[in-house]
Amino acid sequence: MPLSALIERLSRTIGLDPESIGSNTIASSVRQRMSNCDESSEPAYTQRVEENSDELQALIEAVVVPETWFFRDGEPFEYLEKHIADEWKEDPRGHRLRILSVPCATGEEPYSIAMSLRNAGMKSSDYSIDAVDISHGLLRKAEAAVFGANSFRGNALGFRDRYFDVTENGYLLRSSVRSGVRFLQGNIISDDFLAKEHPYDIIFCRNLLIYCRVDARQCIIRSLSRLLREGGLLFVGHAEMMPALATIFTPVAEAGAFAYCKIPPRSSPAVATVSSPRPERPKSAPSSRSPSNRQPHKTAVTTARVHIPKAPAEDPLEHANRLADAGKLQEAAAACEGFLKSNSQDVRAHVLLGVLQEAMSRRRQAEESFNRALYLDPSCYEAIMHLSLLKERRGDIKGAELLKKRAARIHDKQKEPRQ
Ligand SMILES: C[S@@+](CC[C@H](N)C(=O)[O-])C[C@H]1O[C@@H](n2cnc3c(N)ncnc32)[C@H](O)[C@@H]1O
Repeated sequence: MPLSALIERLSRTIGLDPESIGSNTIASSVRQRMSNCDESSEPAYTQRVEENSDELQALIEAVVVPETWFFRDGEPFEYLEKHIADEWKEDPRGHRLRILSVPCATGEEPYSIAMSLRNAGMKSSDYSIDAVDISHGLLRKAEAAVFGANSFRGNALGFRDRYFDVTENGYLLRSSVRSGVRFLQGNIISDDFLAKEHPYDIIFCRNLLIYCRVDARQCIIRSLSRLLREGGLLFVGHAEMMPALATIFTPVAEAGAFAYCKIPPRSSPAVATVSSPRPERPKSAPSSRSPSNRQPHKTAVTTARVHIPKAPAEDPLEHANRLADAGKLQEAAAACEGFLKSNSQDVRAHVLLGVLQEAMSRRRQAEESFNRALYLDPSCYEAIMHLSLLKERRGDIKGAELLKKRAARIHDKQKEPRQ
């Protein structure tokens, strides 16, 4: 089965879930490459890909989805600009702002970030943006910085007059914007991805997770967590607010930004409500100041009085989290529900169940779960944030706004120095 072997090879190398783009699309890229190589036999071409890393890379270049445009989705960039103007400029932490855009495709995303920073009053010397993609061809286009009409979508195109010059080949981005962006080739699922880089203050990782298989998503989320400093911001695509992210990051109180904050476990009620898979934190350690989490963990089984030694039982919620991370949402939800039968007051379980229901598009049930969490712990930030986004989605803008204000008050309170 050469084609399926090739698809498996591709999938393992870049994390691609073949279902996400369809095997016909992949088959047509393979045919295109075979014709470029003057190769008519699939087995011979498969062997060529196995033996020749240049051909593997050429096939990757043919398969990847390069779709991108300036200020894609709008709000994330509005939020970035506001965040920089309001917070970073006040408290620059003594270093240049470091931003990562991965994957960057032909550069529209990192350049939109650079324009947002300039709109917020920053100079090139105040920031550095690393922009990474697996495709050499796309990176070459990004560096050339000449763009056609397809890169400019929607009606808000004032930025084009401000930052581009018209040339006979297209719109050329001015060097003042280009100069703060460094392009690098890299594979986000490789173990040593950006291993030598210091943590970033902000990461954009948008419209990649949706194309990836479950194990690759887990690997990417681990890398993002490693590469983002505590308190840093992570932006994902609008279809990528996934349960596996909610176990490590806290959603930001800004609908439409699709952003998370990496809040240190001890200062975040939100992170604490869903147990974190960080290896360095002992499983039994209380992880926040949230009253709900002062309850001792109730484990169903202990080994203390058993004569034959057994492996210690896993915390049922850790188990549910692990299932969620593996994409087994139904099973994870069932594990939560089972746990809640004898632990109905556990806020973490209600929140995790809500996140899972939301991910399975059971929005009404998700709202019920978050409401239960809030009933038990009125300051549960994560439940408030999720509820606000759910309300906004079904058009209850006023209800969403009220919840956002409540979340902001809790967030501010968390930042107040303790007596
Ligand atoms: C749809 S574009 C997203 C671009 C941009 N982030 C956006 O949202 O507009 C997806 C990009 O992911 C890149 N890509 C796919 N697999 C990758 C991997 N394993 N490592 C790095 N980049 C990858 C592709 O080359 C492609 O440019």
